[in-house]
Amino acid sequence: MSGFSIEWLNLREDADRRARSQVLLDKARHWLCSGKEKEPPQLIADMGAGTGSTLRAFSEKETGFPALRWRLLDNDQALLNEAQRRHGTSHDLELCRVDLSETISLPLSDARLITASALFDLVSAGFIDAVIDSGIGVYAALNYNGISRWTPAHPLDDTVLQAFNSDQRRDKGFGPALGPESSSYMIKAFSRAGYTVETADSPWILNGVDQMMVSMLIDGIADAVRDHALIKPKALQEWIDFRQSTVSTGTCIIGHTDVLALPNQL
Ligand SMILES: C[S@@+](CC[C@H](N)C(=O)[O-])C[C@H]1O[C@@H](n2cnc3c(N)ncnc32)[C@H](O)[C@@H]1O
Repeated sequence: MSGFSIEWLNLREDADRRARSQVLLDKARHWLCSGKEKEPPQLIADMGAGTGSTLRAFSEKETGFPALRWRLLDNDQALLNEAQRRHGTSHDLELCRVDLSETISLPLSDARLITASALFDLVSAGFIDAVIDSGIGVYAALNYNGISRWTPAHPLDDTVLQAFNSDQRRDKGFGPALGPESSSYMIKAFSRAGYTVETADSPWILNGVDQMMVSMLIDGIADAVRDHALIKPKALQEWIDFRQSTVSTGTCIIGHTDVLALPNQL
């Protein structure tokens, strides 16, 4: 178990789908068609695949698109099993239970594109450097960028955000996490390595329609900040109670950035 439940991944997927940059998704698809050196079907290695949300995003408009092979990489067998249950008969699918932090042994060399959604903010600079060393194109969507805005406002919002962003930099198994700085690090590092890099904002824009997700998000943020020196237990409980009381009437914006980094070669 990775700590990412199927319930949470299901709840966030609709907000992810609305948030993803269609422009970058289409450019990533185009890159898959443009490869000359590898015979189709091209292989996508999806890192931190969960139940297969990136596969679903790529498959949404697949009419007329050449067939793809998918290798789903994750360390959570329950999530991989769920991906297999949903897509095992409809897609050319290979499941790999791996620890992505073991970068030296990742099965990537035959991939045309590495994809990831909601993963690269968990990783360290060293992990991104290792991905760059593979020389493969990368589509990394939905990287948290440190922005969160709530309505109605609460006096503790800024303090909670500061504590949450500091928790986002905690080691998540890859060394110190880049957290909110993941996209800016990727832009710098991929550009320096000669990749063509494009980015797009992909914020969650949440309202009463998403209230179950927002309610879980509030609990997740509260758990992440509970032990932070800036946060007093009573004040945090008041923040939680206020936020939970406005999930159906308030709004929440959580900032993300999508990154497409392609090597300058066909
Ligand atoms: C936020 S979830 C995103 C899942 C999926 N991409 C999505 O958007 O629904 C992060 C995923 O990364 C996986 N993960 C986290 N650390 C990992 C590691 N060290 N090795 C392999 N997978 C990992 C988790 O199991 C989880 O499926």
